[in-house]
Amino acid sequence: MARVYNFSAGPSALPESVLKIAQQEMLEYGDSGMSVMEMSHRSKVYESIINACEEKLRKVMNIPDNYKVLFLQGGASSQFAMIPLNLLNKTNKADIVLTGVWAKKAYKEASKYGEMNVIASSEDKTFSYIPELDESKFNKDADYFYICSNNTIYGTRFKNFPETGNVPLIADMSSEILSRKIDVSKFGVIFAGAQKNMGPAGLTVCIIREDLIGNAMDITPTMFDYKTHSENGSMFNTPPTYAIYICKLMLDWLDEMGGIDAMEKINEEKAATLYNFLDNSKMFSATVEGDSRSIMNIPFVTGNEELDKKFIAEATKAGFVNLKGHRSVGGMRASIYNAMPLEGVKKLVEFMAEFEKNN
Ligand SMILES: Cc1ncc(COP(=O)(O)O)c(C=O)c1O
Repeated sequence: MARVYNFSAGPSALPESVLKIAQQEMLEYGDSGMSVMEMSHRSKVYESIINACEEKLRKVMNIPDNYKVLFLQGGASSQFAMIPLNLLNKTNKADIVLTGVWAKKAYKEASKYGEMNVIASSEDKTFSYIPELDESKFNKDADYFYICSNNTIYGTRFKNFPETGNVPLIADMSSEILSRKIDVSKFGVIFAGAQKNMGPAGLTVCIIREDLIGNAMDITPTMFDYKTHSENGSMFNTPPTYAIYICKLMLDWLDEMGGIDAMEKINEEKAATLYNFLDNSKMFSATVEGDSRSIMNIPFVTGNEELDKKFIAEATKAGFVNLKGHRSVGGMRASIYNAMPLEGVKKLVEFMAEFEKNN
C-alpha cells in the first residue's frame, strides 16, 4: 500500500489514524454486532455516536449554549437556499460580499427570495483578494449579512470578520471550519460541507443561533426549515449516519492533537512554509497577496502553462496528487487542510525546489 500526499480541495485527505479506527470498527462497532453503516439511526448505540459528535464539536469550537448544531444533507449548496428561506423574514433584504464562485452562487440563490445588496466584490481581479469593506454601506435593517469566509478556489480568506452589529453574520466556512479559532458568538449561522476538515462528503454541519430558527417563509419545504431539524435533533429523517460517525472520529482526533489552538499553529506553519518558498522562488509564485491569503488553499503558478502541466504531471508521479488548480483559474493549488501533516508540505516544497533547479 502506498498512500500519497493528497492536496485535494475536497473531498480531501483524512488522517490515517481516523481511517484506521474506521477500519477496525468496520465489521463491528463496539459490541453492537454490526457496522455503524448498518445501524438504525434511532438505536441507543447510534444515539450515543451522534450525541458524542455534537458534544465534541461544541467542545472544540466552544459553541455557546444558545446555538443549535444541526447535522444536515444536501451539501453546503443547499444552505444557499436554506439561509434566505429561513432568515429573510423582516425586511426581505440582505447584504453580501462577493469573493468567488461560492458566494456568487449563494447570491444568485438568495436573490430568488429577496433583495440582495452587494457590499463589495473582488470579481475585477478574478477574486484574488478580499475587498475592503466600507461599513457605511452596510444596511442596518438587513435580515442578515453573508460572507464566504474562505474561498476554496482562489485561496483567499477573511482574516478579520465584518462587524455587523445587530445584523446576523452568516458564514460559509466549508473550507476552513476547525482550522482556526473562531468566536462563534459573532455569527448568526456558520455552515460547512464536511468534506474538507470534518470528514466525508454527505454531511453538512450548521451551527445556528436559536433565535434565528422558527421564522421560515411559508413556501419553505419542510426539509429546508431549520426548525424541522432543530426540533428533531437532526433526526426528522435519516441523517447521514456514517458521515456523522467519521466526523466524530475527526473531532476526537482534533481534540487529541490539542484542539483548534494547536491545529491553528500547525496550519500557520504549514502555510508559511509554502508561502515562504513561493515568495522566494524564481519560477513559482503565489496568486494571492498579504492578509487575503488563505492558510487552507494555496494557489500558485509558474507563469507558463506548459510548465504548469509538466509540474503537475511530475508531482503526481512523485506522489503529490490533486495539485491542479480549479478549472476556472488554472495553475496549481495545494489544499492543506487539517489532515495534511507539516511533513507533507515540507516534502512538497523540497520537490518544487528540485523541479525549479531542473527546469
Ligand atoms: C466554500 C465552499 N462553499 C460551498 C461549496 C459547495 O459545497 P457542496 O459541494 O457540499 O454543496 C464548496 C465546495 O467545494 C466550497 O468550497
